[in-house]
Amino acid sequence: MGEIISGKELSKEVREEVRLEVESLKATYGAVPHLVVVLVGNDPASESYVKAKKRACLKAGMESTIIRKESDITEEELLDIIINLNNDKGVHGILVQLPIPKHINENKIIDAILIEKDVDGFHPLNVAYMHLGRPCILPATPKGIMTMLKSKNIELKGKDALIIGRSNLVGKPAAMLLMGQHATVTIAHSRTQNLKEKCLQADIIVAAVGRAHTVTKDMVKPGAIIIDVGVNRVDGKLIGDCDFNDLKDITSFITPVPGGVGPMTIASLLQNTIECFKGIVQK
Ligand code: GUN
Repeated sequence: MGEIISGKELSKEVREEVRLEVESLKATYGAVPHLVVVLVGNDPASESYVKAKKRACLKAGMESTIIRKESDITEEELLDIIINLNNDKGVHGILVQLPIPKHINENKIIDAILIEKDVDGFHPLNVAYMHLGRPCILPATPKGIMTMLKSKNIELKGKDALIIGRSNLVGKPAAMLLMGQHATVTIAHSRTQNLKEKCLQADIIVAAVGRAHTVTKDMVKPGAIIIDVGVNRVDGKLIGDCDFNDLKDITSFITPVPGGVGPMTIASLLQNTIECFKGIVQK
């Protein structure tokens, strides 16, 4: 029987640590970290993520502001908002919720965020630092995955890790972080051939491809570790990229959906907001 790594439980611990650190920062600096989230348009999923981020900040004793803009905002107007936030000494973290409307160049927006306030770790300089293994802000989802693995003292050195998904938000950074811990990493994606064979060789599978039940029992070696990043809505239910019910008995560790990686993403964002705050006030 596989052990479930509960992101719901672990994220509570991380959030409590964050809350205590915020108290201590407040005592030292007379200020608390302030995260500003910019939400463009009214995508329901983005709306609920953004609300959850704000709620988590407030519970941790941080400040949080949501700037809402209509989807017809121009690129120049959005850039102006970012520049004002960059210059605002009372703002320590800036997050532009993705996706943004197609008429706006996403790269231009991400590039405009001051690296010191880039809580997402999406700025190209942060990405470069991560690839070089230098200190930097790590993207929240892969950071949360690493925290989950560490919480169970899972040895990564020399292990075969298969990442399914090559996104900039999850797949690519997760590969770098696992490699940084000396895992042997393979990246598969939606067009990979012989996915089953590759899965069967893996000691650790990180599924982040966004397709419900891509990984099934016949594809997984007994004792493997499964990290499921997928969030797929099927018949009104949230379902991961892995078939949790079938897999939980043959894996050594597995994350559920919901209540797995998702809550860890928010907890990691709070940690990043603290890091940005400290980087700014201790400069
Ligand atoms: N959209 C989905 N996940 C994320 C995230 O981690 N950060 C931002 N900015 N947008 C997202």
